[in-house]
Amino acid sequence: MTATFSTRFGAWGLVAGASEGLGAAFATALARRGLHLLLVARREAPLAELAARLRAEFGVEVRVLAVDLAEPEGLDAMIRATVMLELGVAIYNAAYAPVGPLLGVPADDLQRVVDVNVRGPLAFVRALAPAMVARRRGALVLMSSLAGLQGSPRVATYAASKSFCTILAEGLWHELRAANVDVLASCAGAIRTPGYAGASRRREAPGILDAAVVAEQTLAAIGRGPRVIPGLLNRVAAWVLGRLLPRRWAVAIMASSTRELA
Ligand SMILES: NC(=O)c1ccc[n+]([C@@H]2O[C@H](COP(=O)([O-])OP(=O)(O)OC[C@H]3O[C@@H](n4cnc5c(N)ncnc54)[C@H](OP(=O)(O)O)[C@@H]3O)[C@@H](O)[C@H]2O)c1
Repeated sequence: MTATFSTRFGAWGLVAGASEGLGAAFATALARRGLHLLLVARREAPLAELAARLRAEFGVEVRVLAVDLAEPEGLDAMIRATVMLELGVAIYNAAYAPVGPLLGVPADDLQRVVDVNVRGPLAFVRALAPAMVARRRGALVLMSSLAGLQGSPRVATYAASKSFCTILAEGLWHELRAANVDVLASCAGAIRTPGYAGASRRREAPGILDAAVVAEQTLAAIGRGPRVIPGLLNRVAAWVLGRLLPRRWAVAIMASSTRELA
């Protein structure tokens, strides 16, 4: 499996938003497949700790870069750090999700959602895809969310930003197919991460998955279509909300679910 994965896509993996939670699970899953890694997030200490563990456990080279992807300078630094790497799999996992009625969220926080969750992934694919196209191999993964499949009250801007990621990845999936470059949106339901634990007031959402499961199912879905929804229950929920119910009911169901978020 190891040789196959790096041969198919390329020698290096990039995880943007790698210091904990799902990003750390992606980093571990890629290292297990033999990819060298560039790990990016704001906090240097957890990145360095993860890098040391992955070097020791899997014998891969791991570089870390502590930058804020909300800032254009942070995005530029990440892109510059990839220039000499043969990037095989690049995953944009970082996100910002302030919770509350839109009119109660400071305008700067709403702008930050757009910066991290929209400008970031767009700059990411625009900058990284050309080298993959030139090499005629590689994979770009954008982390998205079931919240982005319909309006989601109390996380309206976050949900809209995730919709952007899904639709962007789907369109790019088709555009880059002929160049043998895979693009995938992973539309996850609830995931056991520090971010989720910090935002959830109730114990656990139905269909919640471990981060390692979401990472594995996402990587397994590369090359199989433009979008994956990890977890059977989440796929059923997406079908019911997106195809079966009238739109206004789907939004109302999301409202009762996001009421649990603090
Ligand atoms: N958790 C869920 O239930 C759930 C459900 C559906 C979809 N998702 C999606 O899955 C992804 C991961 O979720 P998660 O719960 O693991 O998120 P998280 O706990 O918020 O972690 C996100 C990662 O991104 C980094 N990050 C955040 N803002 C950044 C910034 N401005 N610049 C650089 N790095 C930044 C964080 O590290 P630093 O703090 O060190 O920067 C962290 O490593 C997100 O895209 C999220 O939208 C999550």
